[in-house]
Amino acid sequence: MIHNDEKELQLGNSRRSFLKRSAALTAVAVIPAAVDSAAKNRLDEKYAYQLEQIPVSMEINGVQKNLAVDPRTTLLDLLREELHMTGTKKGCDHGQCGACTVHVNGHRINSCLTLAVMQQGNKITTIEGLANGDELHPMQKAFIKCDGFQCGYCTPGQIMSAIGCVNEGHTKNEEEIREFMSGNLCRCGAYNGIANAIKEIAK
Ligand code: FES
Ligand code: FES
Repeated sequence: MIHNDEKELQLGNSRRSFLKRSAALTAVAVIPAAVDSAAKNRLDEKYAYQLEQIPVSMEINGVQKNLAVDPRTTLLDLLREELHMTGTKKGCDHGQCGACTVHVNGHRINSCLTLAVMQQGNKITTIEGLANGDELHPMQKAFIKCDGFQCGYCTPGQIMSAIGCVNEGHTKNEEEIREFMSGNLCRCGAYNGIANAIKEIAK
């Protein structure tokens, strides 16, 4: 007759050996996947270095640019890293903050979410292209007048987006303005000033 303690011991042992067997089986299943992915990474790296630069032409702030770019380069990185146009800011680099907003053919987009090679023949406008010499764009003036910024990091993206918001006609009231500006985050919380600047231009 098996005593209760012995039963538990046996159950414990069999649970332990079951877990060990499962772990071993899992390891067998995982190792080839790990090897596959390491091999794939090595292949990716090998071919990444062999990728050619792709020719692409676009107009940036009214200036024709004939460029050769790595096909993996985003429009944001092309602007900032290759062309040293650092007015367009990198916040999140994956479409969540709006700091990188520019206009492509008159429409606002997050430049971190589009590849430079996709801009063949397009007209790009960045914050650097808004002013006319020393004369600021009306939206830039409105941001200054309405205190639409504090640290200023989000401001280029806010201004580009604000112009888009007005051009799209999403300025019926403050609620609509805030809704259509909600893709642009401001850590300083300058939202009241931003909304006021847009209202000022919309009227
Ligand atoms: Fe592009 Fe944040 S940097 S959305
Ligand atoms: Fe500082 Fe917007 S003004 S993040």
